[in-house]
Amino acid sequence: MPHSLELNDGSALPALGFGLYKVPPAETADVVAAGLAAGYRLIDGAELYGNERELGEALRRADASGLDRATLTVTSKFWGEASQEPAAVRAAFDASERALGRIDVYMIHWPRPARDRYVDVWRTLVELQAEGRVRTIGVSNFTEEHLRRISGETGATPAINQVESHPWLPQRELRRAHEELGIVTQAWSPLGRSRVLDDPAIARIAAAHGVTPAQAIIRWHLQTGGALVPKSTHPHRLQENLDVDGFSLDDADMAAIAALETGERTGTHPDDRN
Ligand code: A2P
Repeated sequence: MPHSLELNDGSALPALGFGLYKVPPAETADVVAAGLAAGYRLIDGAELYGNERELGEALRRADASGLDRATLTVTSKFWGEASQEPAAVRAAFDASERALGRIDVYMIHWPRPARDRYVDVWRTLVELQAEGRVRTIGVSNFTEEHLRRISGETGATPAINQVESHPWLPQRELRRAHEELGIVTQAWSPLGRSRVLDDPAIARIAAAHGVTPAQAIIRWHLQTGGALVPKSTHPHRLQENLDVDGFSLDDADMAAIAALETGERTGTHPDDRN
């Protein structure tokens, strides 16, 4: 199974990364070091997470100890709560870039549709990419309507849309739209903030394969063809979440997981954050 997905800008995205949402700044260096030691090559960060300075320090330390920074993909995201002006986008990008040294993937964190400024925010990301400041640009929490609008109005289609997705919220329709538009789906909260781990059907499938519920869910994401960024502050879990090559889910398992869809979200609906 491929563990790298091809993006519409020609670059490759590791399918499985780890996320730093809710990782306290004081724990960030240890979590990043543990993730890199386990073998992750994609780190999902954001301005909102409040730990970019610590992530940057951990990256510099890894670089000094011989890990080639060029082999890593580091994501940041434009939060934009205070302002959606192009100058604010550039200021936020500059600040994250200063903290991280380099940003490989830059995303709009939320479309904030009631403000109706996301097309211009997207235009600024397109400019940053054209200026060679960032390899890949994408969005997060965009609906199909938002995606079609920015692609239609700017002629530039995001490489990635990072959205909440897990067995209770498989995002089937949105994934179909992504496929049509050539966008990679990257799941946040891929374990449903750990709540889906307790689903009895997941427990049964995991037990049948001799793996943990987290491993079964991660395998489901990968076999669905998407990317994902599970979060853990525990080194043994980071390792466990990466160890998903020794088994595969069969059609019956995939069908059983498909039947778990409830539409339940652990986070905000994209139309409701502004
Ligand atoms: P912790 O950080 O204490 O390890 P999601 O990525 O869907 O948001 O889920 C993250 C939650 O799932 C966190 O609470 C994390 O806890 C927990 N988690 C991550 N990996 C595992 C695992 N392999 N087993 C159990 N819980 C996990």
